[in-house]
Amino acid sequence: MAPEQFFETEDLRQIAVRVAGEAAGLLRDEACTNISRLSRVIRGETTQVDLEVEDYIIDLLRRELGQVRIVTEEQGVVGEGPVTAVVDPLDGSKNYLNCIPWASVSIALLESGGTLRDVKAGAVAPIFYGDVISFGRGRGCFLGAARLEKPSNPSRFIYVYIEHPEAAHRLAEVIGGLGRGYKIRSLGSAALEIAYTGIGRGTLFLDLRSKLRNVDIAAAMGITLECGGEVLGANGEPLNIGTGQVEKAGTVIAVPNASLASRVAKILTGN
Ligand code: IPD
Ligand code: CA
Repeated sequence: MAPEQFFETEDLRQIAVRVAGEAAGLLRDEACTNISRLSRVIRGETTQVDLEVEDYIIDLLRRELGQVRIVTEEQGVVGEGPVTAVVDPLDGSKNYLNCIPWASVSIALLESGGTLRDVKAGAVAPIFYGDVISFGRGRGCFLGAARLEKPSNPSRFIYVYIEHPEAAHRLAEVIGGLGRGYKIRSLGSAALEIAYTGIGRGTLFLDLRSKLRNVDIAAAMGITLECGGEVLGANGEPLNIGTGQVEKAGTVIAVPNASLASRVAKILTGN
């Protein structure tokens, strides 16, 4: 059954805002205390704090949505239902565990079976400072309770994630193609930086490492698209992947408006 029969887009947005906001509050309360307990490694890159907040979010989502399929960073797919929640319980865990106040919680909601471009509503909640950034498909972007205009004059920041030396050449081409006067940033919570770009606090977000997954970008990508921006993949084509399980997104490029999208696509393809 389609989730709209139960939840209007605005209901879904408010649920995403509530759940992300409450989880961010929990993380804020625990920040910089008990670091040795919270940073205990459970497996791979998963730490105690990642799992604790993920369990808290799973509980909240079930309370709000009933039957729900939750695709989440640490535990993969949990449960089944007409609505899918794509969740990054703590984006910027390394910052968080080092008392660096730049991290977020990310929740995206859609009808089960859809792709990243079908996400209906989502929220990115900064843990340390600032209002929750959210969107409802066709209903606009929001900063806290305030509905945002489409960004017309984005700030001249470029958020960059690169690893391999050859990526630096691509980065140089893109920056050279945009012109002068941009400041480079790499702050450590990709969801927050994509969402900031979407609302005009940046001109470009560029991740050339192929490390980000759908859970990292789902809500922030929805915000960017709803605010009038675009999210592109490696060759400047619109990015889209599934949401059925945790999946890598490859290159991720976000811009706050369509004309920047075509400029960046041209630089990348050389056409
Ligand atoms: C990380 C953040 C960071 C990016 C890493 C991600 P996580 O998310 O988004 O900005 O550089 O690649 O893994 O692991 O803290 O959820
Ligand atoms: Ca995470």
